[in-house]
Parts: sequence; C-alpha cells; structure tokens
Amino acid sequence: MKIIRAKDYYDMSRKAANIISAQVIMKPNCVLGLATGGTPVGTYKQLIEWYNKDDIDFSEVTTVNLDEYRGLPRENPQSYWSFMHDNFFNHVNINPEHIHLPDGTNLDAAAECKHYDEVIQSVGGIDLQLLGIGHDGHIGFNEPGAAFELGTHCVNLTQETIEANKRFFDGDESLVPKQAYTMGIKTIMQARKVLMVVNGKGKAEIVKKAFFGPVTPEVPASILQMHPDFILVGDAEALSLI
Ligand code: PGA
Repeated sequence: MKIIRAKDYYDMSRKAANIISAQVIMKPNCVLGLATGGTPVGTYKQLIEWYNKDDIDFSEVTTVNLDEYRGLPRENPQSYWSFMHDNFFNHVNINPEHIHLPDGTNLDAAAECKHYDEVIQSVGGIDLQLLGIGHDGHIGFNEPGAAFELGTHCVNLTQETIEANKRFFDGDESLVPKQAYTMGIKTIMQARKVLMVVNGKGKAEIVKKAFFGPVTPEVPASILQMHPDFILVGDAEALSLI
C-alpha cells in the first residue's frame, strides 16, 4: 500500500489525475474502472482540463464503472450513467462504445451481473480502478459484511448509504433506489492497480480503521491492504489520524 499525502482537495485531485494520466499515456488502450460520488469529481475535472490542453487522449480508453442503481433508467439525472456523462464522458474524446456501466433497467439481477462480469473479462480486465470510500468503509456498493469473494452482484443499500445519497434526490429518501448492481470485492481486487481518493475530516476515522486495522468484511475497504498495487491519495484532513 502506498499512501500519498495531498494538502487539500484540489491537490488530491491533481495527484490522482496524474496517476490516471500516467496510466493512459503508458497504455493508451487501457481499461479504467471508474467511480461516482463527490470525491472523484475534482479528479475528473483535472483530467478534462488536461484533455482540453491536448495533454491526454482518451480515444482508445475503455471504461467500466463500479456500480449503478437497480431500476433507474440511464436518462434519469441521478443514474450513475448520467453522473459519469455530466462529470466526465461528455467532456473528453472517449468512444461511447467503450463506456460500460451495469444496466439498471435490466431487472433480471442474475443475468445483468453475469453479463457485466463477462464485459469486464472481454475487455481484458481492469488496469486501474478508481475508488472512493464510504463512511462505513464501503467500496462501490459493497457494504459491511459483503463477502470478499463476490463478483458483480445485486445489493440492498444500507440505511446509512440511502441517507448519504438522498442529497442527490432532493433530500427525499423515498426517491433513493434501494438496490444497486455493483462490482464485487473480487472484481475490484482483480484490478491490476487500485487508486483510492479520500478527503475531509469526516473520512479520517474510517481511513484509519480500513488501512491500519484488521482486514475484515465488516470494513470492506480493509481488503485493499492485501492488494499488490494499492495507492491511497488523501488530503491532510482525511489522513490526519494515520
Ligand atoms: P463520496 O462517496 O465520494 O460522495 O464521499 C464515496 C463512496 O460512498 O464511495
């Protein structure tokens, strides 16, 4: 595990974007595993800025996203498909055919999850997986207690995650989908490189617990201690307890 200390959110975002940019330069046709949430937005902004300066080219890149709400159509502004297009894909030269997210409208969970694992296999696996971390240690939608050996699967969101996400649904909890399709811990651990971004005081406790505590399904992110190429980029506040 490599820990990179950044001063603040902007610095964290630039450092993470630098690592992604290096990956794309070294392997232009790489597979990037991407994440939604508030934390990676600055990283995407930085990558867009460098794209606009002609410093990075996404034309050969393939992406696979971590997760998607079950039941939400792509066009819903709160779908992760929309999030990724608004915050990243619409602003760079990625080939739309190279963009993959689980299909939330396929309500046949077993079929959709199997299909998504096959997609990841068919593109050759993930070269670099970008991740955030939830306050409870979740990665993707792998909540505490999730089995380490799962591939893509359907999950019931915990109350904590529903509450954390209701800010995106006009603060109305009843509008937040209650299930999601998510890459499993096994899928994430199979990525050749894993890059986590984390910022803010509110995440300091969980960072300490996940990366300096025992490896346990109760803290899903803790398994990343075992990953051969895991990089944690955090701002001063998030890394203040380690
Ligand atoms: P956040 O979410 O970046 O919005 O804090 C992280 C996560 O839940 O994975």
